[in-house]
Amino acid sequence: MEYSEKVKDHFMHPRNVGEIEDASGVGTVGNAKCGDIMRMYLKINDNKVIEDCKFKTFGCGAAIATSSMATELIKGKTVDEAMTLTNKAVMEALGGLPPVKVHCSVLAEEAIHAALWDYSQKSGVKIEGLKPPVHDIEEKEH
Ligand code: FES
Repeated sequence: MEYSEKVKDHFMHPRNVGEIEDASGVGTVGNAKCGDIMRMYLKINDNKVIEDCKFKTFGCGAAIATSSMATELIKGKTVDEAMTLTNKAVMEALGGLPPVKVHCSVLAEEAIHAALWDYSQKSGVKIEGLKPPVHDIEEKEH
């Protein structure tokens, strides 16, 4: 399967790349098989709205494209709305991904959840349905 124009666009021109210094939540996840790593930064205001969102991905093109699209989709949303964003929705917004690249979009979903978890731990705000990240690799990096 060919990559869609949207995937190519988000790979070539990823949106929201970078870091947020005073982030409300940061999550880093990795995929053990391919070794790709994704870090997500969220800036969340008192109304639980994601004001800003940035990412850094050391990984394949699909991982970059999905994290870019994911940041676009959750910016301006509440934490509860961001919580409901699935990897499937990210893939659909990108016009699909080849089957072998589905796990890349899962990484994007996990990175958002990991960042939301970090925010929830720091702020004490409870987010419905949120579980501790399984692939959080923050610990191993230090
Ligand atoms: Fe693993 Fe894309 S090949 S995230």
